[in-house]
Amino acid sequence: MNKKLKLYLIFIHISFIILFLILFNNSAFDINLLNLSFLLITLVFISNFSMFFNSMTEITTSMNLPVLATAFFTLNPFWVGVIAAIGTIELKSQKLGFVWYKFLFNRAVFFISASVASIAFNISYPYIETNSFPFLSILFASLVYFILNNLFVFIVINLANNDVNKMSLISYFRELSKNLITSYFLGLILLASYIYFSKVLFVLIIILLFIIKDFFYSRLQQMNSYTQIIESFLKVIDSKDHYTEGHCERVAKYTYHLCNEMNLSRAKSEKVISIAKIHDIGKIYVDDHILSTSDNLSDEEYEEIKRHTKYGYQLLKDIDLINDELDIILYHHERWDGKGYPEGLEGEAIPVGARILTACDSLDVMITGRSYKPPMTKEEIIEEFKKCAGGQFDPEIAQKIIELIKDGYFDDKFKSEEKIKELELAFDY
Ligand SMILES: [Fe+2]
Ligand SMILES: [Fe+2]
Repeated sequence: MNKKLKLYLIFIHISFIILFLILFNNSAFDINLLNLSFLLITLVFISNFSMFFNSMTEITTSMNLPVLATAFFTLNPFWVGVIAAIGTIELKSQKLGFVWYKFLFNRAVFFISASVASIAFNISYPYIETNSFPFLSILFASLVYFILNNLFVFIVINLANNDVNKMSLISYFRELSKNLITSYFLGLILLASYIYFSKVLFVLIIILLFIIKDFFYSRLQQMNSYTQIIESFLKVIDSKDHYTEGHCERVAKYTYHLCNEMNLSRAKSEKVISIAKIHDIGKIYVDDHILSTSDNLSDEEYEEIKRHTKYGYQLLKDIDLINDELDIILYHHERWDGKGYPEGLEGEAIPVGARILTACDSLDVMITGRSYKPPMTKEEIIEEFKKCAGGQFDPEIAQKIIELIKDGYFDDKFKSEEKIKELELAFDY
């Protein structure tokens, strides 16, 4: 354990002890045993079944906050802190390997976040919503809980591992904020059932949530498998076609920017970007020798390279998870004017995903160059897209690419003019 981490843990534990003593003095004897034990049992039950799993960041969030929302309303800050600290003990993971300082850290963090959130609720409720349903005060308290709890954890993650790829605070919170919104609304539903109906309805809603959780979970599992398949294929492409190493991944990045500019649904954009990552997968069937000598190819060899679109399509069409957007792979060398391959489709007959991919694919060739031609400058690339709009490229997409280039989206990718001159000289021998 490093020194900073030690200091941080000491700081958290001292804060916990001080807050605990102050709250104990103020409100420990003001206690409603029935509400307390009901919420504690619910929380223990809930904590041992994580409800939401975020596939992007591998952060698990449970249903603690929705249950705590009811606790903010019915218990005082001391007891809210106590049930949050005890109720969130995960019985299963303790068996697997007990790390005492992690255990104590988690108890302290839950106590502090929940009791401070409860104080926030108690301060705001009488001012803004006396005798009415506490929509806003619960929102305020949930925000306080969410920020404190995740901030403490974020700091400990960053101090504990020296990984270069640390997640920024903003992206960490952005990922988690989706869970906050869900938690807030579930919290309101549970609190309303608790106040206006009975504990029975409260329990029934929780049972219902557990039934539908499996539905959410299997959907996320499916998305995870999808990403894994794509990543594995990406490795296969890179190991085969090392002449254009990283090409597919770069194209996927350009596709991401372009999809943001087009009016595509999020689901559609995600599919197009994923397929872009593996668009040249068919090249694994093309002879190594042909791939390495992409200049001076015989007609037969050129025909073979062109078949990579069909090979890719054939390879993936039986995988249910990805086969609904596969025509993007099949048609990514079609041209707007109908002079492309494999079928010579024209204009809007070419799927929009394939038209996007064509432009991004060519952009990468222009930026990085190939064995038979050096890279182009930013200005030359803009000119090329202007020239080929309506020819090779969908005019609207070409225009969008030009705008993205002018806005500086790819500035870090362009080679400097001196570098290009150097490369041109190397071509002149
Ligand atoms: Fe291709
Ligand atoms: Fe490509």
